[in-house]
Order: sequence, then C-alpha cells, then structure tokens
Amino acid sequence: MLLLGIETSCDDTATAVVRDGKRALSNVSTNQDRFHAKFGGIVPEIASRQHVALLSAAVDDALERAEVRLSDVDGIAVTVGPGLIGSLVVGVASAKALAFASGKPLYGVNHLHGHIFAAFLEQELEPEYPFLALLVSGGHSQLVDVAGPLEMHVLARTRDDAAGEAFDKTARLLGLPFPGGPEIDALARSGDPAAIPFPRHRAERGSLDMSFSGLKTAVRYFLETEPGRAADKADVAASFQAAVVDILIDRVERATRDASYRLAVLSGGVAANSALQAAFSAWGRRAGVRTAIPHLHFCTDNAAMIAAAADRQGERLRVDPLHASADPNLPFEPASSSR
Ligand code: KG4
Ligand code: ZN
Repeated sequence: MLLLGIETSCDDTATAVVRDGKRALSNVSTNQDRFHAKFGGIVPEIASRQHVALLSAAVDDALERAEVRLSDVDGIAVTVGPGLIGSLVVGVASAKALAFASGKPLYGVNHLHGHIFAAFLEQELEPEYPFLALLVSGGHSQLVDVAGPLEMHVLARTRDDAAGEAFDKTARLLGLPFPGGPEIDALARSGDPAAIPFPRHRAERGSLDMSFSGLKTAVRYFLETEPGRAADKADVAASFQAAVVDILIDRVERATRDASYRLAVLSGGVAANSALQAAFSAWGRRAGVRTAIPHLHFCTDNAAMIAAAADRQGERLRVDPLHASADPNLPFEPASSSR
C-alpha cells in the first residue's frame, strides 16, 4: 500500500509518502524552531499559522520527491490527535479535502502510535507482538505493552513532566536554546555524567510510574546554591542526562523482569538522545531482548511514521472524509484494547 502521510500535531509541518509501512519514498519536514525559539517554547498560534502557510507546498513536495502523483497513492493518513488543536485542525482539514477531492480513503492516526511504528521504517525488522515500547517525547513518557497493531496497554507513565519536557526545562535553566534536548545531548558529550549525583525517582511499590519534576528542581537548586561548580555546564548537562537515562532504563528493566518480550522499541523525540540509545541497546544485550530504535529523522515528529502506523493498523482507522475531526485529547489506548 502506498500512503501519503500528513502530520501537524505540534510545530513540525510534515508530509511523506510511504510504501507498505516500511519504505519512506519521501519524508519532508519543515521545522518551525526559529519562530518559537525566542519564546522558549512552542506558541500554539504561531504553530497553526505556520502550518497554514507551509502545508500545501509540503504535500506537493512529498509527492514530487517520491516521484508519484496524488492519483497514485492508495490513501491519505493524517494525525488526528493528540496535540495542539489549532495545529491538528490544519492537517486534518487539508487531508479531508485531499481525500474528498481524490476519492481516496482517509485514515485517522494517533500521533503516539505513529512514534511506535517509526521503529520499523527503513529497517529489516518487522513488529513481533507482543513487544514493549518506551515512548518518550516532549509531551509524553510512557511504557507500553504492544500486544497487536491496535492493542496497546500503558504499563507506566510520568506523574508530572514528560522526559522531553524535563530536557527542555533543564536546558532553559542552563541558558540553552529551545528545544533543549539536542542541546543537552551535545553539551553532555564533553561533561562527566558522574560529576553531580542528581536524584533518580524510584518506582513505588506496585507501580512503574516515573517522575522528572524532582530532578529538574534538583538541577535548579544546584545551579542556585553551587554557582562555582555550576559554571561547568557540560558536567551539569551530563549528570542530568544520566539521571533521566537511569530512571527510564530502570523502568524498562522492571517491566521486562517477569515478562517474555523478545523485542523492545525506543521511540519519540527523546529516542534521539545518544546516551539513552546507548543505554537502551546495552540493556537489550544484557537482557537478551532485541531492541529497535528509529533512524534519527524518524525519532522526532515526522509524517512517515503516521503513514507507517496507518498501514500497520489498517482499515480500522478509516474515517469519513466529510466527518473526520481532530481530537487534541485523543486517548492513547485504542478502543479495541480490551484485556
Ligand atoms: O516527539 P517529538 O518530536 O515531539 C512531541 O511529540 O513531543 O519530541 C520532542 C522532544 C523535545 O522535548 C526535544 O527536546 C526532545 O524531544 N529531543 C531530545 C533530543 N532530540 C529531541 N531529547 C534529548 N536528546 C535529544 N537528542
Ligand atoms: Zn511526537
């Protein structure tokens, strides 16, 4: 199946053409970071306006780069949620119009499911159910049991900040630009991860939930009370990053202790983090679990992952081009995920 994907849930205007949920014939993403950077975070109104300005050309671009026409694709896949409502509406309205005008089927995709299926784009690996997914992005941090393409159960989530949010907020404390994840990742390379023993949130009895807000507060406290040592930002960045990685890998270890997963996937924007990738792969080797990490350009928001999810989840995602709507609070667990 050849699908055109459209993703506008946050601040990336993204389009792609994907074959069989696996081969990205094109993957176009116009990053809006320069418009949001001076505000230190994403401004929803700016994001929606940029999508309006950029999306139509981005659709043409994806088709052109894939060397196909709209009439060649078998359907259109669009992110319907969760995300910023103004941003989602731009993508959904465009996808509805394209589907209606071309008579092609329209598939409404959950953004977070897209992140999970990104792990199989341009890889030899196929999903082997059930698998475990550690989904860490700017808005979400959760461990998921993926029992089937449309059967997913959240095993653990963050009680406060998402992992990406913790990176962005800590970067801000360090005076680094937004988005902070890649900045901390780069700075941490020249720092000592053991320099400062920042706290690791421990799992409570009977729960795998995680928390990152205490860590962020510890960094702030450290910067305020130890200005001398805080001058070495690389050490602070590396020590903070090491704490995030430890918390996440601890939950992965616990979640798999009594389970027989043969595959674990790391996904979402924070999956681009080099220290997390190294620790996740090392854990997989120790535990005898195969690990999959999306290629870098499929880690952060992109439209290839949306087309990939639609392909793998199939006809159940089919929506009426006249009546499809965006849902900023779309629940993660598909309605069919009954235990
Ligand atoms: O998945 P994503 O592109 O957007 C959401 O759906 O949230 O994730 C964006 C998040 C941001 O918080 C960004 O700082 C973080 O992913 N991120 C990283 C890295 N690259 C992006 N965090 C840590 N290390 C990175 N290399
Ligand atoms: Zn995302």
